[in-house]
Amino acid sequence: MNITIVGTGYVGLVTGTTLAELGNSVYCVDIDEKKVEGMKNGIVPIYEPNLEEMFHRNIQSQRLFFTTNLKEALDKSEVVYLALPTPPGEDGSADLSYVLSVANSIGELMTEYKVIVNKSTVPVGTAEKVKEVISSKTNIPFDVVSNPEFLREGFAVEDSMNPARVVVGSSSERAKNIMSKIYQPFTNTGIPIIFMDEKSSELTKYASNSFLAVKITFMNEIANYCEKVGADVDKVRLGMGSDDRIGHRFLFPGIGYGGSCFPKDVKALIKSGKQEDFNFQILEATENVNTTQKVILVSDIEKYFGGDLNGKKIAIWGLAFKANTDDIREASSLDNINLLLKKGAKITAYDLVAENNVRQIIGDQIQYAKTMYDALEGADALFIATEWPEFKNPNFDLMAEKMNNKVIFDGRNMYPLEVPRQHGFYYKSIGRQT
Ligand code: UGA
Repeated sequence: MNITIVGTGYVGLVTGTTLAELGNSVYCVDIDEKKVEGMKNGIVPIYEPNLEEMFHRNIQSQRLFFTTNLKEALDKSEVVYLALPTPPGEDGSADLSYVLSVANSIGELMTEYKVIVNKSTVPVGTAEKVKEVISSKTNIPFDVVSNPEFLREGFAVEDSMNPARVVVGSSSERAKNIMSKIYQPFTNTGIPIIFMDEKSSELTKYASNSFLAVKITFMNEIANYCEKVGADVDKVRLGMGSDDRIGHRFLFPGIGYGGSCFPKDVKALIKSGKQEDFNFQILEATENVNTTQKVILVSDIEKYFGGDLNGKKIAIWGLAFKANTDDIREASSLDNINLLLKKGAKITAYDLVAENNVRQIIGDQIQYAKTMYDALEGADALFIATEWPEFKNPNFDLMAEKMNNKVIFDGRNMYPLEVPRQHGFYYKSIGRQT
């Protein structure tokens, strides 16, 4: 099948590459000329494990193309995926201007039947709005389908090639048949495709992300309570997770959820609720708890140093909002850096791939180290903000040699409690005894 993807961000690029891998001819459209030129020359604009090989393979096999010309791509494709940004507007609601403006162009440019597939995370009712915009421009028949994306950054290729489910919201048999054909390689291997109406499909995406944000936040509160009463959240987590109604995943406490999705989607759902005079009380609480959780270790660091962080050298391991990505959007590291700087601390940070992104925001207010051990040179404490595998089994003796104090504040519970302690470290983590 010939498919156009409009927008080559994380979702667009990964979806496009995956659909090419499944044998389709995919035309990726973006307005950013430099980015398109780069992609034509084989440059993958994002870091995502296993993406590069698949990307090159499909360019070479002439199944993956890039262009800035929407008309050219549309003329070749029956199916058009929209993978456009829906950033939070000033009031937290999703800004649909990119989606609707492309819908407008599609209406103006299309010359025969199209299925417009919305992959972007959009509020309930957006499929209807897209339909209205396109109908205002053309009499040619078309269908609008909601097909939310559930991939995780860092596992984008894995999740796209092996999704837990495919959700398709459509009231048109013609569009449903086309979507079934596209996803046949998945359904053939037993991956379910769940058809529903457009609105339910749009809400499924927000409900899934918000539920996971609540799940994590619930565990963060349990972890904080564990510290108060002397329980160990690792044990509680295992005990709870073994009940398959709860499950083991997304029960890991830490310094809050970040990234480009959970914070944005929780806010947007709260906002959508308000527009209907509906209060998502659980989501409001989740947002508040998460804001505090992100910087929860700073008060511990402050307490440790007798209330004064002025001039204290803090090493930070990890800047990305989670491991396996260079994405720093809503990363807890940034909140912690800003707060520590405000309190007069001096920071040296190390991240495998996210340093450049942080430089663009924080600049030279902090120092950047070339290796995880370089970051520790003369440090009064180490703060672990991202769970990169590289930090999992460090050389504690070398760390002790480099550091001024043997002190670790771990926002990701990287080590069994006894391990840093055996090496003489003070070790504060989340929801476990100190
Ligand atoms: C999330 C969802 O997991 C995807 O299913 C969804 O498609 C995506 O948003 C999206 O809407 O595009 P992502 O933002 O890539 O994916 O990251 P996650 O792996 O879900 O992690 C989100 C945040 O939660 C991270 O800050 C992570 O550190 C934190 N987290 C996750 C925890 O604190 N504890 C956990 O147990 C799991």
